[in-house]
Amino acid sequence: MRRGYAFVQDYYPDTDTVAVAQAVGQPLLPWEDRLVQKLVPRSSAPPNTYSGIYGLGRFPFHTDLAHWRLPPRYLLLRCVTGYADIPTLLVDGHTLIEAVTPDILTRAIFKPRRPRNGTLILLRLCEPKDDGHCLRWDEVFLKPASKIGDIADLRVREWLAECTPLSIALARAGDTLLIDNWRMLHARSPIPAGREDRKIDRIYLGSLH
Ligand SMILES: [Fe+2]
Repeated sequence: MRRGYAFVQDYYPDTDTVAVAQAVGQPLLPWEDRLVQKLVPRSSAPPNTYSGIYGLGRFPFHTDLAHWRLPPRYLLLRCVTGYADIPTLLVDGHTLIEAVTPDILTRAIFKPRRPRNGTLILLRLCEPKDDGHCLRWDEVFLKPASKIGDIADLRVREWLAECTPLSIALARAGDTLLIDNWRMLHARSPIPAGREDRKIDRIYLGSLH
């Protein structure tokens, strides 16, 4: 994972996603009562979800569960039904941190858009960790909560508007993309008409073997 992601095409397409994830690392305990989330495009959904806000359009760059105190380290995306023209886009947080500066990002305080269980937690966009950083970004669900947060918000948005993402298509059953969720930002391309049957399995991993 030196590059922050790994992509393997056609990886045991007949094997269950949980078995593949267990071979790669340690899946996180189930949340929302399932280990594997089945991602399908939705033109309408609850308003507090990406699908509710963006429908079949492009999702903005984000890290997953950025409002958690400690977001899941890895996410594994596995194609069930895919298309070459719906790439997953990735940008490297290392480049982002360098551009916006570690100083600004580690001092930038953000808060979840809405309190969870009545409590509001404050989160840094970037936290130093033993083996690097934990970077979080979600322009929908996190809002700046300090002056440096405002500056960081603006700079990250500017950088994202100009960056050149990597483009990886989960096109065939078994295509498997493992993402370091503390480092890489990802986004979904728009869903063209007639491609609403796209299906991707997602599973979070706390560590790799
Ligand atoms: Fe995501």
